[in-house]
Amino acid sequence: MCGIIGYIGNKQALPIILEGLKRMEYRGYDSAGVALFNQEKLEVIKKQGKFINLQNELKSRSITSSSGLGHIRWATHGEPSDLNAHPHTDCQNKIAVVHNGIIENYQELKRWLASQGHQFKTKTDSEVIAHLIEERNKTVPLEEAVRGALNHVKGAYGLAVISEKEPDKIVAARLGSPVVLGIISQGEYLIASDVAAILPFTREVIFLEESEMAIITKQGYKINKLNGAVSCHQPQQIEWDLDEAEKGGYDHFMLKEIMEEPETIKASLRGRVVLEEGGVKLGGLIDVLEQLKKIERIYIVACGTAHYAGRIGSYLIENLTGIPTEVEYASEFRYREKPLDKKSVVLAISQSGETADTLAAIRLANQQDLLTLGIVNAVGSSIARETKAGVYNHIGPEIAVASTKAFVSQLVVVTLIAILLGRQRNMPKAKAQEIIKELLKLPDKIEDVLNQKEKIEEIAKVYESANDFIFIGRKLSYPVALEGALKMKEISYVHAEGYPAGELKHGPLALIDQTWPVVAVIPQDSVYDKTFSNLEEAKARQGQIIAIATANDEEIKRIADRIVYVPKTLEILYPILTVVPLQLLAYYLAKIKGRDIDQPRNLAKSVTVE
Ligand code: AGP
Repeated sequence: MCGIIGYIGNKQALPIILEGLKRMEYRGYDSAGVALFNQEKLEVIKKQGKFINLQNELKSRSITSSSGLGHIRWATHGEPSDLNAHPHTDCQNKIAVVHNGIIENYQELKRWLASQGHQFKTKTDSEVIAHLIEERNKTVPLEEAVRGALNHVKGAYGLAVISEKEPDKIVAARLGSPVVLGIISQGEYLIASDVAAILPFTREVIFLEESEMAIITKQGYKINKLNGAVSCHQPQQIEWDLDEAEKGGYDHFMLKEIMEEPETIKASLRGRVVLEEGGVKLGGLIDVLEQLKKIERIYIVACGTAHYAGRIGSYLIENLTGIPTEVEYASEFRYREKPLDKKSVVLAISQSGETADTLAAIRLANQQDLLTLGIVNAVGSSIARETKAGVYNHIGPEIAVASTKAFVSQLVVVTLIAILLGRQRNMPKAKAQEIIKELLKLPDKIEDVLNQKEKIEEIAKVYESANDFIFIGRKLSYPVALEGALKMKEISYVHAEGYPAGELKHGPLALIDQTWPVVAVIPQDSVYDKTFSNLEEAKARQGQIIAIATANDEEIKRIADRIVYVPKTLEILYPILTVVPLQLLAYYLAKIKGRDIDQPRNLAKSVTVE
């Protein structure tokens, strides 16, 4: 997730653009840049790292320009660097583009543009947009050049473009990534990814809809469909204050990120599945596909929530590929005495890509010359750089310390890796197609779960005074139970244990009485009956049962005190849905208790110490 901004009007553009970028810092912090007209000549200044680096660079510059663009980056393609920072320009440095999103077919476009003589300066996908526009802008106005360029683009974009040839114009377009038009006054406008960047200047906005384009000049603005059809929009007034705007109107980043999970799944899948072939395309694994065909064992190393994603991944990989898979806490893996199996691969899962224990585990594997892979969200992070190959989550920064959308994305990505490995072995095309088809339905299904958030809040209120919870599940639901217990602990500070349901009678049952809520992850899967009988044991000890169950399960009503239903899906994909009520349960209990939800006590977003 990046942040774009553009200004056109009768004031100095630079201070307004910088103020807007500052309000969008939470959207990305890999680099930042601006494009302005300095005596009508396009000038681009951009710096790697935090926004302050760009501000410092600009202190020594005085550019009087009444229009311009700005960008704050969360890298997806191309490591964070001055060069890869936006804005990007065409060959002549006369067109500047800022882009939020992913161009899925950028390599193909890059090859064609190079064959037309275009010279590329960066490794990013976004730069191709500037050259596509350049190709067309020779003969048509900027908005037509943008329209024509975008006809060739596959993927997602929220973008804005300026050109030296038409310095009093900004063209913006939206497909899959938000773009908001701010109306400051007649002849003075802002365009941005986020209301947060606009609020300091105006509350009057228009949200562009999918496949719409805005043409903005000092004479006014026009919004139409990318296919040329006219759109009509009424401006609306934003009531949020700035803090709410950064959180998308939610009380906390954690809730915002949970509510983003339908988009998170789409972003994690974008450009990576080919349904008709039952195929998975993971660009970051292309160089090691031959090696992956030969591996005979997989070690998954991670910490915390990522570790639980790894546990679920191990079931998935063994189920779909037959490759023996071991999961270890990275903090323990690094002390293994026996040498690792040479024909194995070590897969690290890490949202931040900076977790010290996970990095240490990868370094151990590299020392033994094993193939190392990463599932990482932060592009260019240490784990991304020190693993030989890997897959980025592409879900934008996760701000809340409690990992939620990253966990969902990690499950999607590990499923894609399992399908890829399975198809390299003997997984039938039909099987792969069945899973891909269901993955593509998950954004809507997870939406059904999110729509029950008020009901889950009510459940949290019922158990507000509980001092202990036990979370149970079997097979793939066991790591989900572990994750639910971790969420409860880390943000509501209430003691919670995650346990294999089958272990209840081997001890923990002694804990159960009416004061210990039992949260059971019990979808209608291959171990439903066994888990159900564990619940009967707990019920017989007056345990209060909160069940996460499959929609239309009538049997569970016999034993559960409270039920949250999730839509039916494939057994191997249930964790992506069953974890969501647990994330929300922990969130609402923490909210009732007045906890510091986004920054819980004693914890850090990235544990870079051992
Ligand atoms: C999860 O909510 C915690 N924030 C923590 O367990 C986290 O998952 C763990 O520290 C691993 O972080 P990483 O994914 O950035 O490596």
